[in-house]
Amino acid sequence: MSGRGARGDADESGATSGSLDTVLSFVTGEMAFDPGPYNDAYLDRRVTARIRRTEAETYREYRGLLEADEAEQTALLDALNINVTRFFRNPDVWTVLRDVLAELTANNRTVRCWSAPCADGREPYSLAMLARDDPAIDANRLDIVGTDIDGEALAAARRGEYETTRTTDIAEELAPLSDLDAHVDRDGDSFAVRRPVREMVEFRRHDLLREDPLGEFELVLCRNLLIYIDGDHTRDIFDGLAAAVVPDGYLTIGKSETLPREFRTSFDAVERGAHVYHHC
Ligand SMILES: C[S@@+](CC[C@H](N)C(=O)[O-])C[C@H]1O[C@@H](n2cnc3c(N)ncnc32)[C@H](O)[C@@H]1O
Repeated sequence: MSGRGARGDADESGATSGSLDTVLSFVTGEMAFDPGPYNDAYLDRRVTARIRRTEAETYREYRGLLEADEAEQTALLDALNINVTRFFRNPDVWTVLRDVLAELTANNRTVRCWSAPCADGREPYSLAMLARDDPAIDANRLDIVGTDIDGEALAAARRGEYETTRTTDIAEELAPLSDLDAHVDRDGDSFAVRRPVREMVEFRRHDLLREDPLGEFELVLCRNLLIYIDGDHTRDIFDGLAAAVVPDGYLTIGKSETLPREFRTSFDAVERGAHVYHHC
């Protein structure tokens, strides 16, 4: 923990108010969450967001709250395992993926796709729905697996039920589809992914930091996790991803994420900005 900078907020030394480490040492010791791979800025944002929602005003007070209140421990773990996602997140990326899927399925072979991490399943379901929606893509050739470290997110993914809320508009997320009702059953604000789409996706628990890649794939999506991971661990994840994408396959990372320099000779950008790369 010593590498992390102290962030006292009541006095200069942080001696009375504590620092981010004051909280992280409890998280590591008592809550079985390893903050090691995540970058400081990310951890501090998540912890500070929780502190603001409580009576605590300093890291030290917040640690006291964690020690006394198991519900707050759960709330902090939820906040750390951030799993914000959308169907067709960054629609411009999906315009490129539409062409990639059409090209891959035009060849007479199974196209293996890995959505890692998949959070509550909206990313791998987007692949499956897109394939069923677009006649240029042969959905029968797709073999899709979605993985995540978070068991609750995976349970939600398997259920395949999503709600429009004040902050989430599911119909709007599904706008890239020509016929939404062919893929989901709507009941007011509730949307249930239809069985033929659900049957195209298998969900499994997998830790991208501690486990080997699942296998070999023609298309790997690893979006919006790397932004939370610190430098050395990012390299480890990229090593695994590079090994998982077959030659002539494709890798997609998040729009705010960057392909490390050493991978740029073997991965060519398909379209600048979309962060879809061809493994040459
Ligand atoms: C922001 S979501 C990204 C979901 C989707 N790829 C997207 O772009 O919308 C990040 C996900 O990473 C998962 N995650 C965090 N650490 C992980 C790890 N070590 N291995 C696998 N998944 C992890 C979280 O549980 C969360 O569901």
